[in-house]
Amino acid sequence: MLNRWLAVIATLFGRNWITLFGSALTTASAICIIGFLLLGFTDTEVSPYLDIMALLILPAVFVAGLLVIPVGAWWDRRRRRCEGETQPAAAAQFPVIDLNNPSTRRAAFLVTVLTAVNLLIISTVTYHGVHFMDSVMFCGTVCHTVMEPEHTAYLGSPHSRVKCVECHIGPGAPWFVRSKLSGLGQVIAVTLGTYHRPIPTPVENLRPSQDTCEQCHWPEKFTGDRVRVITKFLEDEENTPIKTVLLMHIGGGASERHGIHSWHIDPDIRTNYIPTDDSRQEIAYVRVEKGDGTVQEFKARDAEIPTGKERVMDCIDCHNRPTHIFQMPDEAVDEALAKRRIDRSIPYIKKVGTEALVEARGDAGDLKHIVERVQLYYRENHPDFYAANKGQVDKATDELVRIYKRNVFPDMKVTWGTYPNNIGHLHWPGCTRCHNDNLVTETGETISGDCSICHTVLAWDETEPKILEDLQIQ
Ligand code: HEC
Ligand code: HEC
Ligand code: HEC
Ligand code: HEC
Ligand code: HEC
Repeated sequence: MLNRWLAVIATLFGRNWITLFGSALTTASAICIIGFLLLGFTDTEVSPYLDIMALLILPAVFVAGLLVIPVGAWWDRRRRRCEGETQPAAAAQFPVIDLNNPSTRRAAFLVTVLTAVNLLIISTVTYHGVHFMDSVMFCGTVCHTVMEPEHTAYLGSPHSRVKCVECHIGPGAPWFVRSKLSGLGQVIAVTLGTYHRPIPTPVENLRPSQDTCEQCHWPEKFTGDRVRVITKFLEDEENTPIKTVLLMHIGGGASERHGIHSWHIDPDIRTNYIPTDDSRQEIAYVRVEKGDGTVQEFKARDAEIPTGKERVMDCIDCHNRPTHIFQMPDEAVDEALAKRRIDRSIPYIKKVGTEALVEARGDAGDLKHIVERVQLYYRENHPDFYAANKGQVDKATDELVRIYKRNVFPDMKVTWGTYPNNIGHLHWPGCTRCHNDNLVTETGETISGDCSICHTVLAWDETEPKILEDLQIQ
């Protein structure tokens, strides 16, 4: 009995070496894939490279093997026919399948079962493979160096539980296919090392934000003002904390009042603009189209308007760093002092720490420089304090090193300020790219730069703002 089955297997797969090779490939990869899928039932942590092997490379080998099997059979038939080995079946155009013949029956049964098993393996692997390619692990760590800046910044952001693909691809089949095609180009660029360093921003052809951000956020529906307290530290001996309190007029589409979102997200208003540079930091032309048909054009007094780069403004023109948030040295040190990760009682630490970071711009030896720069300063200028508080100073330098590692990535040529942030107007032009005196209509109107359209400044760099006391904000 067993012999008969083995004979059928031998005729199906062992007739010629091509088919035999194909079956061996398929069987071996199938066993590995099944082994890997079974790992899923245990708690084993696997590296992304094993995932790539099991979910992308082995399935390719598996399918290649399956394709080779019929090629071998076809080649074998041709060869036999040429050698004049004409059996009744081989002479016909197509093989005659006679289910009355027990060995044909066995072969048909075997082929059916194997096809079912193959389909099961292919569909399981496709399902897991697609999930895997959508995972943060795949996007963020597989090409480790390339994605390290964005992945690192992402991990500490408000969106660290939102998957990369939810902002970068969004739902639906067409964008899925587009992303997989452009992903192929990226894999080639990474393999050949031809990718840009740093990865350029903005992302060309990013999907419109209605389909990504607005799957979760719906600013048309939320409205109102929000108090923002910004804490900074002076560069004096005491690292004196100062506070700015802004009442942000965020607004919302449904609100009658003016406000940032009320105007910019209003479905009745479309803002188009043309930048003069690839990073969209200088804007030469703005056109506002309203639902009632009115159109208003603002043109730069001092710049030529380039053609072919017009863009419709959406969430990302302001919120371009919702998750890849890189800090400037002073901002990062302020945050560390505010969260007491750096001890405020270390004299001049705001100044010294910021200076040490500013000097470390992505060269070899930066980390050593940061540590030695700070230690040297305290040894020379505050020897008594240093002798008594070396532990505190060491903790501070550790934090400075962490700040550096979150923001400077020499392998990708990313350093302080590589990626602009378009919210606000402190380190980058941001809102003032348009809200300035340079863009004018034919009749001389400009886009308002009045401080109070965006926020009310309730306190500005004050040590003890009365408003915080009144509002009982700590
Ligand atoms: C909350 C939404 C969001 C998530 C989640 C997200 N990104 Fe981004 N990403 C953006 C936006 C917005 C930009 C800037 C787009 C622009 O300015 O055109 C961007 C830009 C980038 C860039 C271009 C370089 C740059 O910094 O501008 C890379 C690379 C990138 N993201 C990778 C990733 C990776 C990897 C992940 C997952 C670890 C991820 N992103 C998760 C929204 C997101
Ligand atoms: C999958 C859902 C999801 C998507 C997609 C998403 N967000 Fe968010 N976003 C969130 C959640 C959840 C929070 C709140 C996080 C918290 O409060 O800890 C948040 C917070 C924010 C905040 C407030 C951050 C802060 O500092 O308080 C902004 C601004 C924001 N998102 C903008 C965006 C933009 C712009 C996009 C598109 C590029 C986007 N989000 C895409 C879920 C999402
Ligand atoms: C004209 C620029 C601009 C546009 C366009 C814009 N926003 Fe905002 N958004 C802001 C500013 C400014 C804030 C306030 C930031 C702050 O307080 O630090 C804000 C705040 C937010 C917040 C936090 C709200 C809160 O109550 O804390 C979310 C979420 C958000 N925006 C989502 C979006 C989404 C989604 C879109 C697109 C539909 C969008 N924004 C379009 C400028 C903009
Ligand atoms: C691409 C150009 C552009 C950018 C960038 C831009 N705006 Fe605007 N914004 C406009 C235009 C145009 C108007 C309409 C001005 C007018 O009609 O006087 C406007 C109007 C507004 C208004 C309503 C003004 C009013 O009269 O009530 C607010 C608030 C506002 N913007 C906030 C912001 C904030 C905050 C940012 C930065 C995060 C920003 N804008 C960035 C083009 C821009
Ligand atoms: C078009 C909108 C807009 C206009 C006009 C505007 N601001 Fe702002 N401003 C912002 C936004 C947005 C932020 C960022 C809030 C944040 O950090 O999230 C900001 C931040 C600030 C900050 C805090 C910066 C920091 O981090 O220390 C100050 C101070 C400030 N603005 C003052 C002003 C003054 C003064 C004017 C008038 C000359 C003005 N702004 C005009 C939108 C605007």
